[in-house]
Amino acid sequence: MPDTLSVSALDAFVTGLPKAELHLHIEGSLEPELMFALGQRNKVDLPFATVEAVRAAYAFSNLQDFLDIYYQGADVLREEEDFYDLAMAYVRRAAADTVRHTEIFFDPQTHTDRGIPYDVVIKGLLRAQADAKAMGLSVSIIHSFLRHLSEDAAFDSLKMAEPYIDKLLGVGLDSSEVGHPPEKFARVFARARDMGLKLTCHAGEEGPPEYVWQALDILKIDRIDHGNRALEDPKLVERVVKDGLTLTVCPLSNHKLCVVDDLKDHPIPRMLDLGLNATVNSDDPAYFGGYVNDNFLALTRRGLIGRDACLTLARNSITGSFLGDAEKAVLLAEIEAYPSAR
Ligand code: ADE
Ligand code: ZN
Repeated sequence: MPDTLSVSALDAFVTGLPKAELHLHIEGSLEPELMFALGQRNKVDLPFATVEAVRAAYAFSNLQDFLDIYYQGADVLREEEDFYDLAMAYVRRAAADTVRHTEIFFDPQTHTDRGIPYDVVIKGLLRAQADAKAMGLSVSIIHSFLRHLSEDAAFDSLKMAEPYIDKLLGVGLDSSEVGHPPEKFARVFARARDMGLKLTCHAGEEGPPEYVWQALDILKIDRIDHGNRALEDPKLVERVVKDGLTLTVCPLSNHKLCVVDDLKDHPIPRMLDLGLNATVNSDDPAYFGGYVNDNFLALTRRGLIGRDACLTLARNSITGSFLGDAEKAVLLAEIEAYPSAR
């Protein structure tokens, strides 16, 4: 099959391509419709009159602009059922995008700091994980620390996770990047690794290449979230390629948060050319205008990537996941069989 498919043939190819999603904040999948429904159910007033007004407010000039509105939106999440409904809405969208496996972040401190017990949050997510499995979609859960808070606060949060440790895949580090370098969390990441958790870290989204170096050398992470600004440092690129680390890249997010000015200049093709294990992900789909397939289509429709790069990105999503070798082999075989099965 040629690499140069028509736009509609490439759309269809992407739409049915088996894939994994490795960078998704479950709170960022809260669509305005569900936000309103949960606001009503929990008697939480929203500072918006309509769903349209909420969507109109989603114009961001940087990460912090977005985070302010994202943390406010999460306030409607109060009960176990709310977290279940939120996660199931995402699971259904992911399944529709032929996602076979997803590794989702949640931000426990956003909830526990406003008095919602850790158990309420995790139990809702675990119920959705079980229902997703019955639908043929595997969901793993990553506990993410908020980097604008202290390392002590991250330790407290990790303590709350202890009763559920065997249910968690790993820890992550998100929220306001600049001014909160990875080294601030060196001890808590070391502790998480000792507990058997995988380590990921948002780095090089807005922060400098130095933060990516720290994530590698000090936190000793297993995967880089975003990593765009690593491209500014050839030695760093060389190191990431040598270590075979996966980058979870989020094109629509990058555009909405002004990490890239124009999607036609998105660095995914360059990353692949450099030998980086880039993947395509949606980050916060309800806020950035699309789920994982929309992120692929944002690249294919601009002519940035063709069919072969889509296959590479799908393979990278499986090899860069934290699945076991046998599970990876099954999904990789499905991807290999996909072009001829169409
Ligand atoms: N939390 C949710 N989305 C995020 C992003 N893109 N960067 C940092 N923290 C986040
Ligand atoms: Zn993110």
